[in-house]
Amino acid sequence: MTQPSLSLVDTDPAELAVDAIVIGLHSQPDEGGALLPAAGAESITAAFDGKLTSTLALLGASGAPGEVTKLATLGTIAAPLVIAVGLGDEPSGSAPDPETLRRGTGAAVRALAGSGTVALALPLPDDEDAPAVLRAILEGALLGSYKFAGYKTKPQPNRRDPVAALQVHVPDAGDAAAAAEVTRAEVVARAVRLTRDWVNTPPNLLRPPQFADAVVAAAEGTGLTVEVLDFDQLKAGGYGGIVAVGQGSEAPPRLVKLSYVPEGVESPKRVALVGKGITFDTGGISIKPAAGMWEMKSDMAGAAAVGATMLAVAALKPGVAVSAYLAMAENMPSGTAYRPGDVITMFNGKRAEVYNTDAEGRMVLADAIARACADGTDYVFETSTLTGGQVIALGKRIAGLMGSDDAVERVRAAGAEVGEPAWPMPLPDEVRKGMESDIADISQTNSNLDRAGHMLQGGIFLREFVADGVEWAHIDIAGPSYHTGEPSGYWSKGGTGVPIRTLLSVIDQLG
Ligand code: BES
Ligand code: MN
Ligand code: ZN
Repeated sequence: MTQPSLSLVDTDPAELAVDAIVIGLHSQPDEGGALLPAAGAESITAAFDGKLTSTLALLGASGAPGEVTKLATLGTIAAPLVIAVGLGDEPSGSAPDPETLRRGTGAAVRALAGSGTVALALPLPDDEDAPAVLRAILEGALLGSYKFAGYKTKPQPNRRDPVAALQVHVPDAGDAAAAAEVTRAEVVARAVRLTRDWVNTPPNLLRPPQFADAVVAAAEGTGLTVEVLDFDQLKAGGYGGIVAVGQGSEAPPRLVKLSYVPEGVESPKRVALVGKGITFDTGGISIKPAAGMWEMKSDMAGAAAVGATMLAVAALKPGVAVSAYLAMAENMPSGTAYRPGDVITMFNGKRAEVYNTDAEGRMVLADAIARACADGTDYVFETSTLTGGQVIALGKRIAGLMGSDDAVERVRAAGAEVGEPAWPMPLPDEVRKGMESDIADISQTNSNLDRAGHMLQGGIFLREFVADGVEWAHIDIAGPSYHTGEPSGYWSKGGTGVPIRTLLSVIDQLG
């Protein structure tokens, strides 16, 4: 579904002839929780002649973050509807924190599905925080309007289409920095929305060849260089991990590489992005239980995220050389499937002994990481729905983060800033010891199939395939890449697009 149009306005919000206006609402803990309209809502508050907060309170508003309260304006202002979104306690500074605004804006715009044009009159500080706050509002609005198109064959009578047009109130609609934020938000949101679409696509419709074709089609005309390796080329090229996992499926594996080189930058820093693209993970011969297996259609979320990040990179043109490696395979049990006990030679020549075919992600990533290092890079940022252990340890919002100090700190800091938290985890020697193999260089999991340090075993395995001197980070997004509950904030059900905004921020910082 297409993204809403986005524009800046500096007309008095009370005079905007739109279908609805979004304002922010705080509670004041020192005043017994009394409501306080957020900055930006002044003229609307004035038009209600002292009755705005009392009416919102009557309607049950409390100012809690993400709460949405709709109020008919009955001619007090030009727009027929005000929607107040809770932004939590009155902020100590000039504006609430960006993530609170990003989530609140997302919730408000989603609640307004069915409206044509919506204006946002939300708090914007006039200090150095202004760009980050505006960015949060713009991203929240564009991502909150996302809805997967789906496959229903009959028109839905009560269906409300996402908001078509967004107008964001700013002090000066002609400001060049604000206009640049609009352009950036449109690019970033398009990447996130495309990733959500890919993740939400059923696994019968997005098997490795189709996924590769979709990525190639999306990259067309962007200026990115594209390389696709098919099954025969992967076999001939020594990509033992991708071949092992992919050989059990009738739909053969692919390795897709996308590259961007900045113009006019002499010896730019080189960044490699690597993503796990298992279009469906049955577990293979070590088959998974039936319950919830369907969710493994999202096991390509890492590859989707790094592919879409490249589309944003091509548009934003940072001063860094960036390549992405998308390792695509379908993990199926069959007469040609790889088995527990197999010893597989990876792209960098290292041999791994397989204990559990359900640990397939690290098999395909080992090749992709080794290939990225062979091509030459300063950094590897790899992201994957790698372990259930990540979800157990950190839950559904916070990614697991492992790797070398500099790369880990870059991802941690960027993730915290953009609202995609990632928590640094250790790579302990004793966990590596548990992965000694009697007959190969490393075993793919703890050789006793002991789940202690489950998430860490994944990071430790991948470390073997990073070349010396390369800074690297592994971002385990098993939880945060896929949202199973009801829509909340700027997250819809299904794919979230994590960690695209983190990767873009890390790349920005390196440029
Ligand atoms: N794709 C799964 C991990 C996963 C689990 C992602 C839940 C999202 C939600 C991965 O391939 C897997 O099966 N991992 C195994 C590893 C084990 C066999 C060492 C796991 O987590 O149990
Ligand atoms: Mn698996
Ligand atoms: Zn998997």
